[in-house]
Amino acid sequence: MQRSSQILKLLPRIPKLFSFRIASFSIKSFSNNSLISKPSFPFSTEETKPTKEFVEPEEMNFQKEQTENLEFRTETKRLLEIVAKSIYQDKEVFVRELLSNSADALEKQRYMQMSGKDVIPGDPLQISIVISESKKQIIIQDTGIGMGKQDLIDNLGTIASSGSKKFLDQVAKDSNNINISDKIIGQFGVGFYSSFIVGDMVQVISKTNTDPHAYLWTSDGSGSFEISKIKDPGFQRGTKIIIHLRPDCLTFSKFEEVKKIVQKYSNFINFPIHLNGEKMNLIGALWAKDKKECTPDEYKQFWEYISNSQMPYKYKLHYSTDAPLSIKSLIYVPTTHSEKYGLHAEENEVNLYSKKVLIKAKCKEILPNWLRFVKGVVDCEDIPLNISRENYQDSALIAKLR
Ligand SMILES: Nc1ncnc2c1ncn2[C@@H]1O[C@H](COP(=O)(O)OP(=O)(O)O)[C@@H](O)[C@H]1O
Ligand SMILES: [Mg+2]
Repeated sequence: MQRSSQILKLLPRIPKLFSFRIASFSIKSFSNNSLISKPSFPFSTEETKPTKEFVEPEEMNFQKEQTENLEFRTETKRLLEIVAKSIYQDKEVFVRELLSNSADALEKQRYMQMSGKDVIPGDPLQISIVISESKKQIIIQDTGIGMGKQDLIDNLGTIASSGSKKFLDQVAKDSNNINISDKIIGQFGVGFYSSFIVGDMVQVISKTNTDPHAYLWTSDGSGSFEISKIKDPGFQRGTKIIIHLRPDCLTFSKFEEVKKIVQKYSNFINFPIHLNGEKMNLIGALWAKDKKECTPDEYKQFWEYISNSQMPYKYKLHYSTDAPLSIKSLIYVPTTHSEKYGLHAEENEVNLYSKKVLIKAKCKEILPNWLRFVKGVVDCEDIPLNISRENYQDSALIAKLR
């Protein structure tokens, strides 16, 4: 039941395409059941007052005779298809989802070390992506906390179960002052399954510091998975995800393509990311740093990076607040703009991030149109994300942000 209720909780967060299906389903069932008994009212132009029952529905007290408590059934294969194919609009977002999971695993490992729960010295905290056109593979590996056998079953074998969310609940009970809730990205428990959008087989090899054994999780995404104990994973700690690409997804084994995607979504992840040995995230998330620690040089470098120009900026605003929303932002006003030369209207270039992961590039809703010459980043960890993470749910909140 627990799993079904989690899935039900997530359904309203699924984008329009899916909710449309649910909506049409409920209309159909309504017409099937209740149209027959619907009383027919004569048409009238006269204004009639609604009766009390219509305006103030009272709670109905049915006399229950026998009550059965049943669980919702899930058809795992269908559910996996829905998760992998209907939630995400772009195939490429699987890279963002897996990198976010790796970042979370590294953040958890850092927490274990900082809180003295893990004292085993190990590999530095990092992520490595290896792609091979000839093997038709993309491999994402991290030196994070890893998963034991039960974790693999609970987290990867259970749709809509977020181990990261549970980890945060656990951390909240620990009596130390280390707060990592603003850093952990995962929350919905579905991102991992995006790997089946592009892969026809996914292997996960994982090793924790608490279990002497490493495990291999394998699935083709069609409803079942297998787990085997393995002798030597080839690394000390962490997780390695091998995606065997579908024939129509071989573009994700091409260096330039994958580099573009990594830099688009995950350029500001806290840990170093290497793609076939080349470092990807060269510039840090300056907006998340304390203002007092930022140097003019760093501001200049960040500006040149986001504006893609060497021209100096006129003003900058580095602003962060915790109430009413937790916002960290860094906004620049350029010295000039192309519209004054009669060129095309400038496009807003303020990107919306949540916990350093790109949610929406060129987010029009954040600033009024007349400020379209402004460039920068707004990071808000409080935005209630749509399950696909490609958008947010609450436009009232975005208005507040503005
Ligand atoms: N690279 C990884 N290292 C360790 N644990 C992972 C990794 N990838 C996924 N997990 C576990 O699997 C869970 C499910 O992942 P996912 O479907 O992306 O959901 P979410 O990230 O929203 O929790 C995570 O919460 C985490 O516990
Ligand atoms: Mg995730």
